[in-house]
Amino acid sequence: MTVAAGLLLEDLEKSCPGPGGSPAVKVLDKIRFTARAGSITGIVGLNGCGKTTLLRIIAGLEPADAGRIRLEGEGAGGIGMVFQEVALLPWRTVRRNISLGLELNGTPEARRGRIVEGFLSVFGLEENADQYPRELSGGTRQKTAIARALAPGPGVVLMDEPFSALDAQTRDGMQKFLLRVWTERRDTILFVTHNIEEAVYMSDQVVIITPKPARVAAVIPVPLPRPRDKTGPECNLLRREIFSILHKPGASPRME
Ligand SMILES: Nc1ncnc2c1ncn2[C@@H]1O[C@H](COP(=O)(O)OP(=O)(O)OP(=O)(O)O)[C@@H](O)[C@H]1O
Ligand SMILES: [Mg+2]
Repeated sequence: MTVAAGLLLEDLEKSCPGPGGSPAVKVLDKIRFTARAGSITGIVGLNGCGKTTLLRIIAGLEPADAGRIRLEGEGAGGIGMVFQEVALLPWRTVRRNISLGLELNGTPEARRGRIVEGFLSVFGLEENADQYPRELSGGTRQKTAIARALAPGPGVVLMDEPFSALDAQTRDGMQKFLLRVWTERRDTILFVTHNIEEAVYMSDQVVIITPKPARVAAVIPVPLPRPRDKTGPECNLLRREIFSILHKPGASPRME
């Protein structure tokens, strides 16, 4: 079985132009952590602290000013990303959106077809296969975006608040669903969330980022077997610990 690559971030730094031509502002300051191959890392941090910037740099969408990103091992899937605002290609159907990464990495047509049909089936998207993004509900759009990021894998998959636009029940379903798919494939997943309960429920480790500039305040391992009881005592203890690190004096505003 092909295994996804692990990811090592070594002292990533990034500055961005300040407002109205003012001096550059440091956004990321020596961001350093490791995501083991085939593990799930939740990233939590307050609004504007630099989480999306970090994922964009890991995805290669923009350069870091300093530091290194290392992939450990030979993941077949490269790096896929699910964006904060769903970014499906509106002129492609669900089926052709899912096939995008496989087309870009040159997967032969017959094999591509088999993989895409497999994803449509696993994700329960068969009935939507020939629909366009504008015809889909938010949850179905998000499922398609996740399937698209996973299809070329197993690989490193970056997800920027993948469930934040969903109602509580759909969100709950999507979390379980993603865990089910991940259990079979073992992608290396990094996902940003504002929901500490979700981070603890899903992750093998939670990286806490503090703002201005973004620094890794702590990496909290979550060594609990799955499936987890979201509101059980072990999860609650970890939630409280993460919450208190995030909201040390000076940090604001409150998160869920
Ligand atoms: N290209 C850019 N030019 C100038 N400033 C930028 C640029 N990209 C990001 N920033 C700034 O970097 C900071 C971090 O932004 P980013 O979108 O990464 O935060 P975030 O943690 O994802 O926030 P949210 O939780 O609201 O999604 C912000 O202050 C933002 O204004
Ligand atoms: Mg963001």
